[in-house]
Amino acid sequence: MTQLDTPTTAPTTVLRAQFPSDFIFGVATSAFQIEGATHQDGRGDSIWDTFCREPGRILDGSNGDVACEHYERWPADLDLMQRLGVNAYRFSVAWPRIQPNGTGAANAAGLDFYERLTDGLLTRGIQPHLTLYHWDLPQTLEDQGGWRNRDTAEHFAEYARLVAERLGDRVRSIATLNEPWCSSILSHQLGEHAPGMRDRRAALQAAHVLLLAHGRAMQAMRALNLPAELGIVLNLQPAYPASSSAADQDAARRSDGTFNRWFLDPLLRGEYPQDIWADYGDDVPQVQPGDLETIREPLDFLGVNYYSRSYHAQDGHRPQDAEYTTMGWEIYPQGLSDLLQRLNRDYTVPPLLITENGAGYHDQLEADGQVHDEARVRYLQQHIGAVNDALQAGVPMRGYFAWSLMDNFEWAHGYDKRFGLVYVDYATQERILKDSARWYQQFLAGR
Ligand code: NOJ
Repeated sequence: MTQLDTPTTAPTTVLRAQFPSDFIFGVATSAFQIEGATHQDGRGDSIWDTFCREPGRILDGSNGDVACEHYERWPADLDLMQRLGVNAYRFSVAWPRIQPNGTGAANAAGLDFYERLTDGLLTRGIQPHLTLYHWDLPQTLEDQGGWRNRDTAEHFAEYARLVAERLGDRVRSIATLNEPWCSSILSHQLGEHAPGMRDRRAALQAAHVLLLAHGRAMQAMRALNLPAELGIVLNLQPAYPASSSAADQDAARRSDGTFNRWFLDPLLRGEYPQDIWADYGDDVPQVQPGDLETIREPLDFLGVNYYSRSYHAQDGHRPQDAEYTTMGWEIYPQGLSDLLQRLNRDYTVPPLLITENGAGYHDQLEADGQVHDEARVRYLQQHIGAVNDALQAGVPMRGYFAWSLMDNFEWAHGYDKRFGLVYVDYATQERILKDSARWYQQFLAGR
């Protein structure tokens, strides 16, 4: 039985009962952002360990060495999830814990850790949803060209097989990649994420090898005939032109093309979008015969991470009356239902999961020892409402994961931006339920 904490006064605008009883409502995290213990039990270095050591890369100069100490504290963290009343948890496996150098035999201690975690979830009645790659590429593979090198796709398929063989009988789903746009464009063209390159051609090659790695991993895992559902997680951002002017319309088309269609079209249609391919000129990736068939392997689910929209005004004006999170991201729940309905209209989609949705703020512990994050409560209510709108409109929605269970390492922003429903006091590693956690708990309990 789940024990309820003190309710908040926030108005409930969406009800659990509006969703099917088997609808997935969970929380999400990723390995590098919460685990710490980066040198324990044979874990190798990842590109994020290296990146954090480079001066100026992380806003607060921090790293993942300690993070939320989840590697030790996982049983208590699982208890916390049970207390929230979620029926699912999305986590990622750190590739360098399984294969410290990215190839070769599995490191037993690494697989054991994720097996204990998986079994711990099942014991608590929480479905495990596993992501294979949430950005922590083994550094040894980066030294050999990382995602620009096609060999990495083969290594990834082998890594996927090792994990699926061990856990594919017990986890509910396995996602190959988390947000390949970030692992390619944000990391190789915009320089903001590891490995911090600024080279568009390299970025597009990386995006292609990532998609290929996804397809090869799908094939390797399918061959095992496991009950786990197999898919991928994309970050999608609907693009809105500010006006009907040709310039605004075109900017929105290009944004949608580079951000969304560049990944959706190969995965769901087996082709790159022609308009964007033409725009990229000589920077387009090297596509070999058969690649697109591999990339188009049928998906059991598509995971969608949604945070905000993009807005395109030639004069640079921002949308009127818009509210923003501390990340500077506009709060636009309508974008989520628009996006989901558009996916269902323009593509033949498999069942959809919202694999991440949430808001980053500078949350603070107040004098009463609590965190009153009303803005996040509103954000969650509105976005869960948007998922319900899509469901009512006939979109095959299966679940929703809030990002994140608890505050954690927010990549280049370090620890200063907090996305958790649970506050982490990094000095003591104490976990404190924010008002948003209590709201989610009440919502899930049907109150
Ligand atoms: C997407 C990423 O998958 C996750 O790692 C990150 O913390 C959130 N967005 C918030 O930026």
